[in-house]
Amino acid sequence: MEKNVYILAIESSCDETAAAVVKNGREVLSNVIYSQIALHTEYGGVVPEIASRKHIEKINQVIEQALTDAKMKLEEMNAIAVTYGPGLVGALLVGVSAAKAISFASGIPLVGVHHIEGHISANYIENKELEPPFICLVVSGGHSHLVVVKDYGEYEIIGRTRDDAAGEAFDKVARAIGLGYPGGPKIDKVSREGNPDAIHFPRAKVGDAEYDFSFSGLKSAVLNYLNSCQMKGEEINTADVAASFQKAVIDVLVEHSMDAVERYGYTKFAIAGGVASNSGLRQAFEKVCEKKNITFYHPSPVYCTDNAAMIGAAAYYEFRKGIRHGFDLNAVPNLKLGERI
Ligand code: KG4
Ligand code: ZN
Repeated sequence: MEKNVYILAIESSCDETAAAVVKNGREVLSNVIYSQIALHTEYGGVVPEIASRKHIEKINQVIEQALTDAKMKLEEMNAIAVTYGPGLVGALLVGVSAAKAISFASGIPLVGVHHIEGHISANYIENKELEPPFICLVVSGGHSHLVVVKDYGEYEIIGRTRDDAAGEAFDKVARAIGLGYPGGPKIDKVSREGNPDAIHFPRAKVGDAEYDFSFSGLKSAVLNYLNSCQMKGEEINTADVAASFQKAVIDVLVEHSMDAVERYGYTKFAIAGGVASNSGLRQAFEKVCEKKNITFYHPSPVYCTDNAAMIGAAAYYEFRKGIRHGFDLNAVPNLKLGERI
């Protein structure tokens, strides 16, 4: 029997201060998330400086809580994992500094993790049988990537957004229709009362790269629609606009993803990132995957949005490969997926 591996994982790349204890990469013993959303709501988006300050205030408390909830001691950990990119530099630095300090003081090895690798690995937590290779659609506030997961820690990005990330489009459209921040969950909710076929918004194609996405045209189309209604003095049905916008996003994500799955010949498909908790998106993928005999994987909503359990899951496979970081580990705001610094 192999020895159990316990990892204390830390995540602070954006507006969640999070820590978790994960056993053997797939068993979450604790998952503590301090969400700063309420703090940023009045500004209509994440304010980097405020995020960093709040991370500093909360990080030790969140880490201690993660160990307490797991009923474990720091000395029992085999590695300290931390997100070191991509993300907001000041926010990332808080987690990275905390992890380095703990590692230095305790002598427990340090493992830096890529944030997107964490999102993808969130799928391993509740799907014990899931192993690479598979295709994963990563859709969050900062990223929209179609990724071939060739093996643990081995990725090929085959599609990416040319402009706004999917979550960013949700947030911007929500603001325009007066739903506030964060837009994704709000659009998801009101869409259930709207007619997704009420307004036809464009589904953008990126000519020279079939798996790439573009959402800024769609966002502009929604803004133009709202303006023209206002000019004509027509009443705007918020639920219909939300549902029609959401359907346009879903259609493009589903079409590109399924084309890729078929082209690469995989039978497993996963989604990840904040937008992956969208109920309409999940239903659409469930339906199409069932029809095409593809096994569809998705994390529970709590593992879709930013959390540290997913970082612990990704770190386990890095740890097993012998990957360790030194105390020169730094925050890398634009870290590429698969890149190791
Ligand atoms: O993964 P995440 O927590 O942070 C990043 O790494 O960016 O994603 C946050 C994004 C936000 O844009 C938020 O509006 C979106 O995920 N989101 C959703 C839903 N829940 C969160 N978008 C659509 N439907 C949802 N239910
Ligand atoms: Zn994220």
